[in-house]
Amino acid sequence: MTFDFTEEQLTVREAAREFARNHLLHDAIARDTESRFPEKQVKQMGELGFMGMMTSPEYLGGGMDTLSYVIAMEEISKIDASAGVIMSVNNSLVCWGLEKYGNADQKEKFLKPLASGATLGAFCLSEPEAGSDATSQKTTAVRNGDHYVVNGTKNWITNGGTANTYLVIAQTDPEKGHHGISAFILEKGMEGFTVGKKEDKLGIRSSDTHSLMFSEVSVPVENRIGEEGFGFKFAMETLNGGRIGIAAQALGIACGAYELALAYSKERRAFGKPICEHQAIQFKLADMATKIEAARLLVYKAACQKDQGGDYAHASAMAKLYASEIAMEVTIEAVQIHGGYGYVKEYHVERLLRDAKITQIYEGTSEIQKIVISRNLLR
Ligand code: CAA
Repeated sequence: MTFDFTEEQLTVREAAREFARNHLLHDAIARDTESRFPEKQVKQMGELGFMGMMTSPEYLGGGMDTLSYVIAMEEISKIDASAGVIMSVNNSLVCWGLEKYGNADQKEKFLKPLASGATLGAFCLSEPEAGSDATSQKTTAVRNGDHYVVNGTKNWITNGGTANTYLVIAQTDPEKGHHGISAFILEKGMEGFTVGKKEDKLGIRSSDTHSLMFSEVSVPVENRIGEEGFGFKFAMETLNGGRIGIAAQALGIACGAYELALAYSKERRAFGKPICEHQAIQFKLADMATKIEAARLLVYKAACQKDQGGDYAHASAMAKLYASEIAMEVTIEAVQIHGGYGYVKEYHVERLLRDAKITQIYEGTSEIQKIVISRNLLR
């Protein structure tokens, strides 16, 4: 086992770090306050190759490994976790899902613009009554000759308003349970496809989260991904990789908060010395750094396991579970170290604390990760 990065991975880390510091940091608090999508920055991320990092160059992606992707995700999310999730959904749910399971025409038409950052993607599984219980899909897609008629509602869709390409999971045969669920590519502008209300969220406020409504949307058969009935498996397989991205986002949030707290503890004085010289603060910093390191190892392990092939659902669930739990713990301690300053919006730590919470919820709650892990243990 080696812990050394390759030249390429070091270059990716430097590029992501520099981009985050130079282009995401200065306006991050304002974007959060105003719930403003980082349009210019997402375009730049596409130009820099961050939107299709793992997609092969044949489809205009970076052709990089998953470890490079999580390294970049950590650096971006340290500064701006909203930019992190926008990038993560496009990379690991949309581009990865299309490259792995889409056909040649779908890759040509949809993957190329997504991977190059010319367009943005969304992954549409959750519904008002189907969040964790993802098999209970109510959205239907009924075959009618050379197209399907799609009806239903999706909820909490990241990139919901800003995306152009939507991977939508729907029931094609309710009699068959999860084997009657299929996946489709929908495009913004299709008749009957409406973007619903934008959510006013606790955290990741500058990412764009919407409900989506489909009313008699006519979707060509050639937009189905894989065979009829493959949609649930498609969603689960895609989420296995997506969870590694969210684990890296959680790691970045934790690390960003820790670095701010460390720096602050050296500047802030109390009782005649910098607060980092008080053991109460030193113990907190030591705990935070240890948790971050443990999470990083789980995230890297899951990424490497994915790159090596084989089953990585267990490793990705563990990485997401642990990284998101410690993101909450570390950001709470980072606010504590900042005292009153940590509770106000001029300082980045309160935003990081709010951002951390979603990592325990989306792409499967912590409880869902425990289900995935324990099923694997008991298999
Ligand atoms: N990987 C691969 N296949 C999996 C899988 C996994 N992690 N989990 C389940 N499956 C397969 C099973 O093998 C089974 O296949 P077969 O019938 O062919 O053998 C099939 O899926 C059904 O499995 P279960 O019987 O275990 O299904 P279940 O109803 O008990 O649910 C679950 C399993 C793990 C709870 C699943 O429903 C789940 O992961 N729920 C959470 C959904 C989720 O993560 N939603 C997030 C929304 S996306 C999002 O947040 C994107 C965003 O915008 C940020």
